[in-house]
Amino acid sequence: MQVEPGPRAALEPVLTARLVLTPVSSADVADLVILYGDPEVAFWTGPWTGAAVEAWAADMATRWARDRVGKWMARDRSDGELVGRGGFTRIDLDGETVLELGWVVRDARTGLGYATELGRAALAWAAEHEPGVPVVAFTEVHNRASRAVMERLGLRSVGTIQREGLVEGRIGLHPDAPSALSRL
Ligand SMILES: CC(C)(COP(=O)(O)OP(=O)(O)OC[C@H]1O[C@@H](n2cnc3c(N)ncnc32)[C@H](O)[C@@H]1OP(=O)(O)O)[C@@H](O)C(=O)NCCC(=O)NCCS
Repeated sequence: MQVEPGPRAALEPVLTARLVLTPVSSADVADLVILYGDPEVAFWTGPWTGAAVEAWAADMATRWARDRVGKWMARDRSDGELVGRGGFTRIDLDGETVLELGWVVRDARTGLGYATELGRAALAWAAEHEPGVPVVAFTEVHNRASRAVMERLGLRSVGTIQREGLVEGRIGLHPDAPSALSRL
């Protein structure tokens, strides 16, 4: 007999080979301050203030409760050490409701396949809990590490969109930064 995933199941921790993923909540603010304080992470996702991290965590908790979709904290299964965060945000992209998939890994843990591992688990989760909802990912065109993760996950590049972000060779955030868009 096939058991339908219940609403509670969506919020349960997700296990991968090396990670345990738990829905972001306000209890994660201290770890998020550490994560967003890593220089490479701050460069691509910041700048962050303590208040902005708190607001981001609160918004994620609201999204999990309202949308039944959100981003997870990623911790090492073996010792609970912080590895990163990632997962989905339900967004409207040019009138289409989609799940945006993203990832952030602590500077000291990059290059070890954690973002790919998280992304793969997230895609399996979406296939179970949000079947039929398109999955997209985007990042600044020059964020080669993040684009490599998208490719490795089998997302195909479908073009470029303008959104707030970094522009190669220019300082600060720009409202019209070219970002590479991929879809499953
Ligand atoms: C992007 C990020 C999440 C990747 O995490 P990760 O755990 O190192 O990713 P993985 O190890 O699974 O894969 C990294 C891939 O990028 C490649 N890569 C790493 N640095 C790179 C660089 N500077 N240029 C090109 N490719 C690079 C790796 O070789 C690997 O590709 P491969 O699988 O084809 O070998 C991590 O670098 C990060 O958190 N960066 C800062 C935050 C960020 O940019 N997040 C994405 C915002 S959209």
